[in-house]
Amino acid sequence: MTKVLQVAIDGPASAGKSTVAKLVAKKFGYVYCDTGAMYRAITVAAIQAKVDLNNGLAVTQIAKDTKIKFTPGNPVQRVFIGDQEVTEAIRQPEVTNNVSTVAAIADVRQELVKHQQSIAAQGGIVMDGRDIGTTVLPTAEVKIFMIASAHERAVRRYQENIAKGIKTPLDKLQAEIELRDKKDSTRAVSPLKQASDAILLDTTKLDIDEVVEAISEIIIKKQDELR
Ligand code: CDP
Ligand code: CDP
Repeated sequence: MTKVLQVAIDGPASAGKSTVAKLVAKKFGYVYCDTGAMYRAITVAAIQAKVDLNNGLAVTQIAKDTKIKFTPGNPVQRVFIGDQEVTEAIRQPEVTNNVSTVAAIADVRQELVKHQQSIAAQGGIVMDGRDIGTTVLPTAEVKIFMIASAHERAVRRYQENIAKGIKTPLDKLQAEIELRDKKDSTRAVSPLKQASDAILLDTTKLDIDEVVEAISEIIIKKQDELR
């Protein structure tokens, strides 16, 4: 019988993790979980509550009180905090520029990691984030560390923005991406880091289909090994 696997995809901002993870999950009939959306949802809730984002205790209380829910949607999964839809709100620049501060709070991470592990316990899963292979799913059978040059990642974000009618200068986008990566890789708790057993996948010169294909091959090879 084909073994149902846990697939952990980590890497820096805009490497293509969520786009590719979603397609891989669909291909294998696995659940997809965007853990970055969870940190973003708590950031939205904290901003709405007008809490100082550096106040770890207050933000942790918000993380404990906020029920995050995903429902299927096209082209993106819909995200709710309680009954409020925040699918668009979580992508606003104010959230993007503050989410790393919220994600650095140890107790916030503890709350969200519990939730992520309960989602993964349900069966085949593709989960993307920063600490999935190292902390959330340390026994995942497939671990990918997805990277691309900072310039290429900024270009991808730039093109995505243009398609939405937003024109942010490329150098500004690249600086924001690099700052967020720095914050995410230098924080004390579960920093962005390649797990020792993760496969490094440089997607700088690959399009989305090529990345999906590369990961699918890794999954199929692992399924064969475990058969
Ligand atoms: O899609 P993008 O690369 O912009 O980021 P994201 O995956 O939506 O994650 C937003 C932020 O949440 C990251 O910059 C991290 O600060 C945080 N995050 C985290 O700390 N751990 C995770 N497992 C996922 C996201
Ligand atoms: O989740 P993460 O922040 O790592 O990246 P993403 O939001 O999935 O991808 C960022 C942008 O890069 C999206 O607009 C993707 O369509 C695009 N992309 C690409 O052009 N080539 C790839 N190989 C992967 C993603």
